Amino acid sequence: MSRPGHAGERSVNGSGAAGGSPRNAPVRAYTAGVDALLMGLGLALALLGGLWLQDRRRLAARVAETERAARDLRARLRESEERLGASELALAAMPMGIALFDAAGRTLLSNPTAEAILGRVGPVETLLPLPLREAAAATASDRRARTVELELGAPARTVRADAVPAGTDGGVLLALRDITETRRLEAVRRDFVANASHELKTPVASIRAAAETLRTVAREDPAALSRFAEQIEREAVRLSRIVSDLLDLSRLETGGDAERGPVRLERVAREEVERARAAAEEAGLALSLEAEPGPPVLGSARDLALMVRNLVDNAIRYTRPGGRVDVRVRPEDGEVVLTVADTGIGIPGRDLDRIFERFYRVDRARSRETGGTGLGLSIVRHVVENHRGTVRVRSELGRGSTFEVRLPAFADGEPAP
Ligand SMILES: Nc1ncnc2c1ncn2[C@@H]1O[C@H](COP(=O)(O)OP(=O)(O)OP(=O)(O)O)[C@@H](O)[C@H]1O
Ligand SMILES: [Mg+2]
Repeated sequence: MSRPGHAGERSVNGSGAAGGSPRNAPVRAYTAGVDALLMGLGLALALLGGLWLQDRRRLAARVAETERAARDLRARLRESEERLGASELALAAMPMGIALFDAAGRTLLSNPTAEAILGRVGPVETLLPLPLREAAAATASDRRARTVELELGAPARTVRADAVPAGTDGGVLLALRDITETRRLEAVRRDFVANASHELKTPVASIRAAAETLRTVAREDPAALSRFAEQIEREAVRLSRIVSDLLDLSRLETGGDAERGPVRLERVAREEVERARAAAEEAGLALSLEAEPGPPVLGSARDLALMVRNLVDNAIRYTRPGGRVDVRVRPEDGEVVLTVADTGIGIPGRDLDRIFERFYRVDRARSRETGGTGLGLSIVRHVVENHRGTVRVRSELGRGSTFEVRLPAFADGEPAP
């Protein structure tokens, strides 16, 4: 290309033929060579530049893609963190104790309820009480679910534990439930049935005996006729009282009268005091009522009447002749307060906590003599609870007792619950 005298030289630079001397020919050829080189270089550079630009674009796209992937990953990570947090929260909030053990008996997880029931949850071989450890170990080895009931701690709690095989490699899941309250309610129900049957048995037996005697003796001894008839009547009245108290109680235990509205407690108290006046006079007692007008309470007039009746009835029944019974209703600090005070026999301190229990009587013999079954104050307590109130008693042996019921006053415009 740079050789002198070559035909190609001219074609490269025509100016040499027109004006330059033949001596300049090698220089021209050289310049042409450089030009060609420069052009080639330019082309190569342009090509490289193009390639570089292309690469840059591709790189930018890659970077954007990577950033997107990273963003995605971060979002997914956050999501799974949140999900994990949610399952942890759910596990923590569960009222059931949960503990998971792997095939080697190590604790994989346990929730706060399990720890509250068992204390710290360690590996299977350290679980206490022993029946729990045995159940978990047995389920781990034979892969069969089993249930044990445990007595734990002081005060004693009853816990039902279910050991269930988890996974396929010998893991065990323990589910623990505190069933103390369920067992207590079962016991209360059992006691209730036993007590009720016992209370009903006595008058029924008495009626049967009186009826039999009537049949065999009456013909020879006409005077016995009215005596036994009286006995039958008395026991029948007692029976029907127990049955009606039991019916009231079961109605109140399931929420009481559904018919609710504003009730003026002072009016209810007035009616009940008037109803009891004859009985008070017969018992030689002074019965008084002091009723300040005030706001109504929201509830059932029928149930509230039952409450007042039982309190007034007790005050009359447990006060000796010559004593007094004072009933008072007054508004106080957004509440309506009913007090029934007597100057009666009083209640021993050790019995004060128990008199609101069903069938509880301080003096069984005496109370039965006066026709009591021990359901009255239980009825009072349920009416008060159904009206979101409180009941308290103060008493001094031989001097008298005061029962105080406080019910929230009903303000006009307040929505009924
Ligand atoms: N005002 C009172 N003074 C003294 N003792 C009382 C008084 N009120 C209740 N008691 C005691 O509390 C016990 C429980 O009262 P409660 O009204 O529940 O039953 P009861 O009066 O025996 O029978 P019932 O009311 O079912 O006919 C009574 O047996 C009595 O010993
Ligand atoms: Mg009573």
